[in-house]
Amino acid sequence: MALPVRKAVFPVGGLGTRFLPATKAVPKEMLPVVDKPLIQYAVEEARAAGIEEFIFVTGHGKTALEDHFDRHWELETTLNQRGKRHELGLLEATQQPAGAVVYTRQPEPLGLGHAVRCAAKLVGAEPFAVLLADDLVLAETPCLKQMVEVHAETGGNVVAVMDVPREHTARYGVLDVVSDDGRLAKAQGLVEKPKPEDAPSTLSIIGRYVLQPEVMTELAQVREGAGGEIQLTDALAATLDRVDFYGLRFEGVRFDCGDKAGYLEANIAFALARDDLRDKAKEILARYGAAADAAG
Ligand code: G1P
Repeated sequence: MALPVRKAVFPVGGLGTRFLPATKAVPKEMLPVVDKPLIQYAVEEARAAGIEEFIFVTGHGKTALEDHFDRHWELETTLNQRGKRHELGLLEATQQPAGAVVYTRQPEPLGLGHAVRCAAKLVGAEPFAVLLADDLVLAETPCLKQMVEVHAETGGNVVAVMDVPREHTARYGVLDVVSDDGRLAKAQGLVEKPKPEDAPSTLSIIGRYVLQPEVMTELAQVREGAGGEIQLTDALAATLDRVDFYGLRFEGVRFDCGDKAGYLEANIAFALARDDLRDKAKEILARYGAAADAAG
């Protein structure tokens, strides 16, 4: 039996350059999809998967994130006085039990692997999850919950994967697959951001990981990889000889909210998935679609 996954690491130290100027003073993880910041979707997904400790690896200018998961007494008091129960309820989802949220800083932006390594002492010697908030997944069963359930059976490392068009492999960590039952693939190799012609497959990692603590040791040693950064994929590849590695084709739809078109699509999909917004969103889409068609 695999140990339970109780801790999750949220690397949130990135500069968010792809979303400037929006991200000049606001962390990219605070950008909302409809009315909720990306990071809150990730935290709620982690909580639904049984996570009890939330470790944020932050960087300069990320205080809005800390404030978001803190109490806001003035706001709560005002809402209380005005009898705004619904709004008070919305704030509840931003709060965790005292001590459940931990912040540590990534002193330099040296890459995802380095960010995860910054959480090594906080994670300790147990399996842990990593969630990249700009990968947003719309799913009936939250993506990380699906993975934790698989991990309870398989142990090892379990990452969320999807097949991407071959011309996109250079955006992802890609699996060299040794066996595959259509849902769960086992890897014998991993490559970070391979060129399409070099990619061992098109099965690519999206930003959800359930990892064994062994990766932390490798992260302390691994050299700069793709893009001159310390890559999580490279450290995971270095544990393949002793830790099984599985890619789960999760059920759900993933949106790349680090990309403008992906972010726009997420807003549309999440609005359409909501009872209070579906009809209005459909009407807006039909109207703008028709106007765009008419304009040629
Ligand atoms: C990171 C990982 C990559 C993974 C991707 C998923 O890349 O390094 O292996 O496939 O997230 O979104 P990034 O998007 O930070 O360049």
